[in-house]
Amino acid sequence: MASLFITVEGLDGSGKSTQLRLASDWLRQRGVDHRVTQEPGGTPLGESIRSVFLDLKEEWSTVDGTVEALMIFASRRQHLLEVIDPTLAGGAHVLCDRFTDSTIAYQGYGRGASLELLHRIDDLATGGRVPDHTLFFDLPAEVARQRGHSVVRQNEPGGVDRLDAEDLAFYERVRQGYLELANAAPERIRVIDSTGSIGETQQQVVVALTEICLLYTSPSPRDGETHLVCRLLLEKRGGGGGGGGGGGGGGGGGGG
Ligand code: TMP
Repeated sequence: MASLFITVEGLDGSGKSTQLRLASDWLRQRGVDHRVTQEPGGTPLGESIRSVFLDLKEEWSTVDGTVEALMIFASRRQHLLEVIDPTLAGGAHVLCDRFTDSTIAYQGYGRGASLELLHRIDDLATGGRVPDHTLFFDLPAEVARQRGHSVVRQNEPGGVDRLDAEDLAFYERVRQGYLELANAAPERIRVIDSTGSIGETQQQVVVALTEICLLYTSPSPRDGETHLVCRLLLEKRGGGGGGGGGGGGGGGGGGG
């Protein structure tokens, strides 16, 4: 099976990062070779950009969406060169927390930066690179914002960052951006309903990952190896969510 570049997307507070961790555990238990990474970040340079990008400095309140995008795409290019492409070339899958859909949604729809300009910067930085598959964790903006501002979240390292702190209208615009992206590319972007419990959301992730795997399965029984991987995934799925949290009850689908 080809190495896949899979991204997770969603509003801050959508629970995507929690789900990414669970998905990674689930894949690891099935012996699927993969690397988890994130944006902005994923490399030493990217992590430095991330800390500047998320810093809540009063004096930076005039930073606009285009400046943000330039920072993000610098991080992204380095991430592709240093981590994403070498990992894929080495035969492992890449699971990345956010990629260019975030930039379109946050800087484009959220901040109002020109989409045309964002695509031009994207061309320059990444050659217009698009993930193979994307899971978009969707929930109403108001719920995401409440989760993102929970007491637990505020006490986490990093707490509520520069973008988390935006108002509800910003969250609404970002969500609208994601929904439009998902509508425009339904074959790539799968919408996961993130309003339920962690366990309920995880069940949808397991189904989505299994379906993605099946896309690469030849109908021919001669393709023994691919069939084996998929059978394994499907059998385990029947046995429960697994992955260190299949049951995961309790409301509030985790943080960002
Ligand atoms: P995270 O909390 O999911 O790691 O994301 C960090 C923040 O960075 C989040 O508020 C969204 C923001 N962001 C953008 O605004 N544009 C981007 O392109 C990316 C990757 C993240």
